[in-house]
Amino acid sequence: MNKITVIGAGNVGATCANVIATKDLAREVVLVDIKEGLAEGKALDIWQTSAINNFNTHVIGVTNDYLKTKGSGIIVITSGLPRKPGMSRDDLIKTNAGIVKEVTEKAIKYSPDAIIIVVSNPLDVMTYCAMKAANKNPRKVFGMAGILDSGRYTTFLSEALNVSPKDIHGLLMGGHGDSMVPLRRYTSVLGIPVTELLNADELDKIIERTRKGGGELVNLMGTSAWYAPGAATAQMVEAIVDDQKRIFPLSAYLTGEYGYKNVYMGVPAKLGKDGIEEIIELSLNAREKKMLDQSAKGISEVLGVLNSLKLFK
Ligand code: NAI
Ligand code: 2OP
Repeated sequence: MNKITVIGAGNVGATCANVIATKDLAREVVLVDIKEGLAEGKALDIWQTSAINNFNTHVIGVTNDYLKTKGSGIIVITSGLPRKPGMSRDDLIKTNAGIVKEVTEKAIKYSPDAIIIVVSNPLDVMTYCAMKAANKNPRKVFGMAGILDSGRYTTFLSEALNVSPKDIHGLLMGGHGDSMVPLRRYTSVLGIPVTELLNADELDKIIERTRKGGGELVNLMGTSAWYAPGAATAQMVEAIVDDQKRIFPLSAYLTGEYGYKNVYMGVPAKLGKDGIEEIIELSLNAREKKMLDQSAKGISEVLGVLNSLKLFK
């Protein structure tokens, strides 16, 4: 790909730009931030690893200069406040909605055909906000959370089972919040159902830790995570750049799938060069559907807050 823009040169944005560059996914990565010098500095630092890490992707940083982002094929949005201890992701909405709207409008003006990946929290509602601001086909605007959450789930399982995380597939659905829905029925180790390898209590504990996985890190560090979020976002970028048709849990706009409409929520979807190519509808049992309904209810409440801000006509 010719150019990828990453907006927000903070912890997640800079990490994501670093992984994109290290994997040589584009000719150029443009890192944008509002803080004078921050994006320029981080971009220069990343670019200075090119000879060491053996990549060609040129990384530049700009302060609010969207002209430099012109012609991007993908725009990653990470700008906005992260959580502090005691905060939920939803507490961020009032500040982050304005930021996400503003940066989306500025970026899309110079790259009208770009695919947009949103990372800012509260994730599902910020993705909705970016879709509205970009006024684009929702199959080209989606959010990253499921790869991160299932990454956490998988690593906890790998520790409990003492097996490589590479052999574990764990699917999560729902919103990016503490009511996310890890699906034990769709979790396996090389095809072996996890329920044959772990007892219900052990699995419950892992599911609970996964749901609170973001908060665990906020409590340890005083701010939210970045290595796994940055890598997870870059994995979505890679799937688009290489037209991989990979299936990831991601926040997608639903138009009736799973019984929900006009909302973004985490579902399994196929990603390729044009964005979301297919939303995969699994059959859920009554218990799973109930958990998903609860998660959807949480998203709708936050969406209500977004609507009350009247940012869109
Ligand atoms: P950070 O504070 O390190 O970086 C955010 C950056 O955004 C700052 O450098 C700030 O100057 C910049 N920014 C703020 N307003 C801007 C504007 N109008 N234009 C351009 N840049 C602007 O925060 P961090 O840790 O990178 O997190 C970023 C966001 O991602 C937060 O909302 C956080 O909650 C979210 N997040 C989401 C995850 C997910 O799974 N979806 C995982 C981790 C973080
Ligand atoms: C995370 O899950 C805070 O959404 C961020 O790490």
